[in-house]
Amino acid sequence: MSGYSEKLVDHCENPRNVGSLDKDDPSVGTGLVGAPSCGDVMKLQIRVDEAGVIAEAKFKTFGCGSAIASSSLVTEWVKGRTLDQALAIKNTAVAEELALPPVKLHCSVLAEDAIKAAVADYQRKRAAGAEAPPPAV
Ligand code: FES
Ligand code: FES
Repeated sequence: MSGYSEKLVDHCENPRNVGSLDKDDPSVGTGLVGAPSCGDVMKLQIRVDEAGVIAEAKFKTFGCGSAIASSSLVTEWVKGRTLDQALAIKNTAVAEELALPPVKLHCSVLAEDAIKAAVADYQRKRAAGAEAPPPAV
């Protein structure tokens, strides 16, 4: 696609870390977000190790090329980072790295929201697990 940066096209045509993790695994956080303006949907999952570092990240995006590229890029960025570091990732950094055109800025917002939602889901599961251990069946 002319007018799009090489990095954008690369991440769109060869997305990294496509797939799913087991959402019921206590070490996995799942973020599912949608963009109201276009209806695109992004699922992003992280697996967090005992040290609180993101060991693995996967995504599935039902959306435009910029959303696919944004999610592909952030799955690479979050790996090896702590949750706080992952939360500090800004959509503007994603947009800058991929040279997204202004009309595609919301696609990178989706990626930032998906990370935040995945971290929140993981933290919610941790808190719930600490309070109430699952009943033995
Ligand atoms: Fe051109 Fe995805 S194929 S940006
Ligand atoms: Fe909506 Fe890209 S056009 S996420």
